[in-house]
Amino acid sequence: MKTIFSGIQPTAVFTLGNYLGAVKNWSEMQAENECIYSIVDMHAITVRQEPAKLRTQTMNSYALAMACGIDVERSILFVQSHNKNHAEMNWILSCSTQFGELSRMTQYKDKAQKHPDDVNAGLFTYPVLMAGDILLYQADLVPIGIDQKQHLELTRNVAERFNFRYGDFFKIPEAYIPTGGAAKIMSLQDPLKKMSKSDDNPNASVYILEPKDDIIRKFKRAVTDSGAEVRFAEDKPGVSNLMTIYSVFSGKTLDETEAEFAGKGYGDFKLAVGETVADALAPVRDEYNRLAADKDYLLSCMKTGAERAMKISEKTLKKAYKKVGFVV
Ligand code: TRP
Repeated sequence: MKTIFSGIQPTAVFTLGNYLGAVKNWSEMQAENECIYSIVDMHAITVRQEPAKLRTQTMNSYALAMACGIDVERSILFVQSHNKNHAEMNWILSCSTQFGELSRMTQYKDKAQKHPDDVNAGLFTYPVLMAGDILLYQADLVPIGIDQKQHLELTRNVAERFNFRYGDFFKIPEAYIPTGGAAKIMSLQDPLKKMSKSDDNPNASVYILEPKDDIIRKFKRAVTDSGAEVRFAEDKPGVSNLMTIYSVFSGKTLDETEAEFAGKGYGDFKLAVGETVADALAPVRDEYNRLAADKDYLLSCMKTGAERAMKISEKTLKKAYKKVGFVV
């Protein structure tokens, strides 16, 4: 059994793309691994947040992760700030991280440019906090999107540096970056662009908590290609994107999908995709609504999750303290 660790910011908006690229994977990995997942609110405050909103979003993200299939009995799901070991490990690792390597992080450079009035130290050392998240649990595998690849490389470098200085200690984690169709869901309005929550066109992205009718309407309006055949091909990016989505949600292969819609037009196909997605997401939405309304239950799950996370991470932190020469 492998130990898996991953984190998601409470400010993330779950589009179909995020869902298929990340959270659905998280859920599937539970079957054969020891999974630890965190709602990383400490990462979120590296950019300005409205406190009341952050609190609500943290509750909601936790509920959404559960609704998407994270089983809190089997896996550990916790809120990062509930486990102070993350803050403490951050300090230890900061002293094994070089200023120069943090300066090269492209996400830092992007965010600093976007928020020139708040280039705070936390934004700069954010990848160290992330390294601590992973190393505290001696994770083998870290499911991430491609945008976090550089941060995982840094994690490995910091862990190796620590190990070199103080003797073998941290497990060097591997990135798990899903490839294949589901990892890259494209905009419904411009299939050459990735589906993104920041798209100006509201019809470009589908969100997993959207009402059924809205989902169907967006798929009906999805941009297709010239011709009329439902066929997966490079010169048919719109239809191919829809086929990928359909195949993930229906469990049918691309070939089976092609056969199913042979002789039918784009209209029928788009309606079928919309209905399939909406139906598949309905139980997620219902479960989310049920959980989000039960604050006490969520808080108790959070508490248990944090206790379990603390138990594991405490051991690693103590050993790291010993390694660096603290009196413990
Ligand atoms: N930085 C990640 C993001 O913004 C979230 C994250 C924090 C994370 N800690 C992590 C991901 C540890 C994987 C492992 O998406």
